[in-house]
Amino acid sequence: MMQKDQFLRVHGGFRLEGEVFASGGKNAALAVLPAALLTDEPCVIENLPMIDDMFVMRDIFLALGAKVEFSKNAMRIEAKGLRTHAVPELLAHKLRASYYFLGALLGRVNESVVPFPGGCAIGSRLMDQHIKGFEALGARVYEDSEGISIEGDGLRGSVIYLDIPSVGATINIMLAAALAKGNTEIVNAGKEPHIVDLANFLNAMGASVRGAGTDTIRIKGVPRLHGCNYAVIPDQIETGTLMIAAAATGGDVLIRGALPTHMEALTAKLLEMGVRVDDTGTGEDSIRVRSEGRLRRVNIKTQPYPGFPTDLQQPMSALLSAAEGVSVIQETIFESRFRHLEELRRMGGKFTVKDRIAVIEGVKLLTGCPVLATDLRAGAALVIAGLMAQGVTEVNNIHYIDRGYEFIERKLNALGAKIERLERIGPLEIAAGG
Ligand code: EPZ
Repeated sequence: MMQKDQFLRVHGGFRLEGEVFASGGKNAALAVLPAALLTDEPCVIENLPMIDDMFVMRDIFLALGAKVEFSKNAMRIEAKGLRTHAVPELLAHKLRASYYFLGALLGRVNESVVPFPGGCAIGSRLMDQHIKGFEALGARVYEDSEGISIEGDGLRGSVIYLDIPSVGATINIMLAAALAKGNTEIVNAGKEPHIVDLANFLNAMGASVRGAGTDTIRIKGVPRLHGCNYAVIPDQIETGTLMIAAAATGGDVLIRGALPTHMEALTAKLLEMGVRVDDTGTGEDSIRVRSEGRLRRVNIKTQPYPGFPTDLQQPMSALLSAAEGVSVIQETIFESRFRHLEELRRMGGKFTVKDRIAVIEGVKLLTGCPVLATDLRAGAALVIAGLMAQGVTEVNNIHYIDRGYEFIERKLNALGAKIERLERIGPLEIAAGG
């Protein structure tokens, strides 16, 4: 679980080589788990990453009155006797995805209350499209300084045009519409892999969801859903982070259990930089990444899926900080997702940032030093920078990293990295479990 003042000491210059398994998808799990509330029968969700966000989800289920068992990457949820439709504030603040309980509880018991969520400080993180969807389904939505409460007296299907292909709004509307009366269409829907994963889980429960992964998702409301067993897809962003780490160290890494089709935007950019990326062609789900010598610069523009994922632009900025030439990253999804560059600058990186555009001038070598993670993917970027740098980099605030990466240093050390997880107690530094 999350430790207050742990930090990672990353020794630079070690080449990553060997095989590593991709964990189950954090964002897929966060979308699929709340759907288990839509039935009073037990659901078992497998291939979950053992990360802090999953323990918060477990605690929210318990607070709502569901029976939950969570161990060995699987969670059994039985939402037979829900005792409340309100998510506790303390838990909501720990997890942005707590807002998925708005749609799930509304769908199941026709009302829900969720305090404004927490989550990474990367932008405004509005919810107007979620609310637009709930109101289109006939619910009444009330917002106050604390959070959002919703009342529905039986949802009815509707056509909902999203102003932007919001991942969260698409997921929340799917959760609310699965049991609504009649048909719902979500137009300009998000197409992310974890949206498709949620549709597959809902259909395994007896729902009727068509078109997930395209611009228009069609949901035919059903009277009830049944329990089922399901395994979430591998984590697209962890896989991408491992691919970038392999490229950053001139390594040769095989990532097993990863889905090449989910990685195409990143793969294309790595190939442009001179990295070798093969899907091994063995038919099994795996990706091999090899690189040697200095990599070439590229330009990146983050886009909704299948475009370049915003969650990988931060790790990518670490790789680009030592590429040959000047690279440009345009962040179109969030308005302040470049805070980590200040930390990379302390390591010798050269950047200029104006609004949503970062211009990165590649340097020969970064130099290790103490740095601070400002959010989940920023933390991953700083670990990658530490792997590349000369000397030692201490990455602080690693509770952000533990929210979204399952044992990141164990996986990287198994590939040849040298990373210690330490805890400061006063003037002492002691090894910490992770
Ligand atoms: C999800 O966030 C992910 N989180 C994010 O991953 C990811 O970066 C993002 O999708 C984009 O892919 C989870 O899945 C838990 P959005 P979400 O709704 O749902 C604006 C990580 O590192 N917007 O597509 O919040 C919003 O302000 C995290 O794992 C509205 O204006 O993404 C943002 O600028 C970070 N109105 C943009 O759209 C709304 O109603 C994208 O938001 C909703 C969103």
